Order: sequence, then structure tokens, then C-alpha cells
Amino acid sequence: MIIVKVGGSVFSDKAGEPENFDHETVGNIAKEISKFYPEERFIIVHGGGSFGHPEARKYGIRKGLPDEGDTARFRMIGFSKTHQAMLRANAKFIEEFLREDLPAFSVSTSSIFITENGDVSYGDVEVIERLLELKFIPVLFGDVSVDLAKGIDILSGDQIITYLAKMLEPDKVIFLIDVDGIYDGRPGEGSLVQSLRKEEVDALIERLHCTSAGTDVTGGICNKLKEAKKIAEHSEVWFVNGRVEGRLSGAIRGDGFGTRIV
Ligand code: IPE
Repeated sequence: MIIVKVGGSVFSDKAGEPENFDHETVGNIAKEISKFYPEERFIIVHGGGSFGHPEARKYGIRKGLPDEGDTARFRMIGFSKTHQAMLRANAKFIEEFLREDLPAFSVSTSSIFITENGDVSYGDVEVIERLLELKFIPVLFGDVSVDLAKGIDILSGDQIITYLAKMLEPDKVIFLIDVDGIYDGRPGEGSLVQSLRKEEVDALIERLHCTSAGTDVTGGICNKLKEAKKIAEHSEVWFVNGRVEGRLSGAIRGDGFGTRIV
């Protein structure tokens, strides 16, 4: 089984209009998956992109829920609106997969996970396991979450993947991002890291001096690397360019172009 994370900036332009969606790129991702399905099983997790992040930011979802008052009501409305925006992104994903005759099935993250300060503290993967047995392709997404410490928070796609990887032990986890892989330095400037041992991840994070990008409420490439290190305990991890046709297939086969962490 392979888990594929489709980063928000792969399927949308985070700096562009709210809720812009790149149908062609997601269509291509579905086409590549259809070459390996049903011999290979897949779980898809997509990010927020221009759907979840602007709403989450506007309503200050990560600040949690005060006990009462206008701010509490404002955040609750924002909680629901952020989730609705994610459902719209998810519906577009499912449509593209169905078009390729892939039985993708939406699983709402906020209905099966509870967080504590943004980390998963409870997750019910039973439905996902059964869907996989039946050869469905579950499609989850970064979402809002009910949070034990803060009342509400955001659960990023990357953290969902860490949890799913621990519970389901996939053969491989593939992160689709909008650059060719992980760079030792700034993307396009530093050199592309093609192969990395999990023991080397911390030193790379140190060198990158990560700061979270402007519209991203969940922490960019460094959060991905931290999660990737945990995942690499039990699965092979790939970072490949999700906007370039063929890169996903390469990672699935195991001879692809990008960053491989073992
Ligand atoms: C964020 O999910 C979800 C919301 C903002 C609601 P991710 O953190 O996985 O999204 P991307 O991949 O960075 O866009």
C-alpha cells in the first residue's frame, strides 16, 4: 500500500485567487495512479492550498476556541467555513479520480481524528482499513480538528500521514510537492538531495533555518521533513514534483527522480 500526499501548492496557487484548482495536474495524478491500481492500493491525502489556508488564517483557527463571547462565535463560524472550503477541494479531487474510473472515496478527516495542540491524539482508522480491503481509494485531507487542549485547531495533511503510516505501515509514502524534491539550501539554488538517510534529516533541518511561509498555517517544508523522519522508521519516503508528469510513477516504481529517504 502506498500513501500519496498531494501538497496544497501542487493542486493550487496559494498566492492566487481563493479556491483556484489545477484540474490538469490532479487529472494527471489520477492518470498515473490508474496505471498501478488495483495491483497497488493507495490512500490519498491532500493539503489545503488556496482552499483551507486563507480561511484558517482569516478566522485564527490555530489560536483555539475561547470559552465564550464574540471571538468564540467568530472562530466557530470560521471552523465550519474552513471545513466547507476543504470539502469543496476534496469534491474536486474525487471528481478527477472518478473520471479516470478510480473508486476514490472521501473520508472527512475531522470526523475520525481528534488532536491535542495540533497533534493527533485519537484516530479511528477502521473505516479506512475496510475501504482498502474493498479496494477503494480513501481520499483524506488537511482539515480543521476538534482539539482536546485548545478546543479547535488545524490538522495538517502531513500529520495525518504520520499517523496513518504508523498505524497502517505502508510500503511507501510519497509527498508530491511543487519543486523537484528537498534542496540543501533554497529551492532552485541549493543542490537537490536525491538520497537521504533518516539519521541525516535533523542536520538538514538545522541547515535550512526554516521559517513558515506567508499563507501557510501548518509549517512548510520543515514540518514535512520532521514528519518524514518519523515515517521513515517504517516506510520508504519520497518527495517528488507533483506538477511534472511521470515523477509520481517513478516514485511508485522506485526508480524516480526526486528525494528518497530511507
Ligand atoms: C492544511 O493542510 C489544512 C487547512 C489549512 C485546513 P496542509 O497543511 O496539509 O496543507 P498544504 O499542503 O500545506 O496546503
